[in-house]
Amino acid sequence: MRYLVALSAALVATVAFAQDAERLVAQAKKRWAESPHGPMLERILPPTFEIAQLPERKSRGARLLVRYCVQCHNLPNPAMHHDAKWPGIFERMVVRMRGKGNMGELMYEMMAGVEAPIVGEAEVLLAYLRKHSQRPLDPKKYPAVNEPEGQSFKLACQQCHVLPDPKRHKASEWPAVVARMEKNMEWMNRVVGNRPEPDEPQLKIEEINAFLIKYARKG
Ligand code: HEC
Ligand code: HEC
Repeated sequence: MRYLVALSAALVATVAFAQDAERLVAQAKKRWAESPHGPMLERILPPTFEIAQLPERKSRGARLLVRYCVQCHNLPNPAMHHDAKWPGIFERMVVRMRGKGNMGELMYEMMAGVEAPIVGEAEVLLAYLRKHSQRPLDPKKYPAVNEPEGQSFKLACQQCHVLPDPKRHKASEWPAVVARMEKNMEWMNRVVGNRPEPDEPQLKIEEINAFLIKYARKG
């Protein structure tokens, strides 16, 4: 019985959190939609990453991310950037939330209702981003990245973040990640493969997958 009470309390808390999170996201989308710069804000980050996919979803860090980081664009994935990159990006975002960022006029129109984290919250949020960050590829461990077999991967996959460590995923998982990245590229208007101009680099999905699968995590 006590177990059941605890379980239902946990369920209620989870459902409340999920509803609250969805509400925050809906509010934020409304704010961009009403901004004349909505279409630009919408494309800063792709919509491919969802609240349900957040690591340690119920932690304070995850909640703070949902509270503060969907106010102007889609939900950021902590695994998008590596540890060393987050403090600089985070600082840029906090300055904006305080209404002092660049793109002043753009933010000015949207700033009513935008909240900034207080000091203690900012620490927890940044620690969360860093803890679940991307592990960069170490070229000493994978010299092939500088050989012809790594060129397509290298060209395509360091446009928005560092090259990911191939051991991050198993061979069976990589093609779906690469397919999602192709969508991310379309979304963020960084597609390299859709214009058949001879001097434009092409997006060579097969070569990228072959490289990642070869060096993927075993088992
Ligand atoms: C006040 C609006 C605003 C809020 C709130 C905001 N951002 Fe941003 N964000 C922007 C704008 C504008 C850009 C595009 C320009 C740029 O990259 O600085 C951006 C871009 C980004 C990018 C892509 C740029 C890159 O270097 O990869 C990431 C990642 C990001 N934000 C993460 C976050 C995180 C994490 C938070 C919460 C701590 C957050 N943002 C909160 C306005 C905001
Ligand atoms: C247009 C920008 C862009 C390009 C180019 C890009 N990515 Fe990403 N990448 C993102 C964004 C945005 C995220 C976070 C959202 C997500 O996970 O979809 C991300 C996250 C990741 C992650 C961490 C999430 C996970 O599921 O493990 C990996 C690994 C990754 N990218 C691999 C790649 C590979 C491999 C390529 C080359 C095929 C690539 N990326 C090219 C934007 C990009």
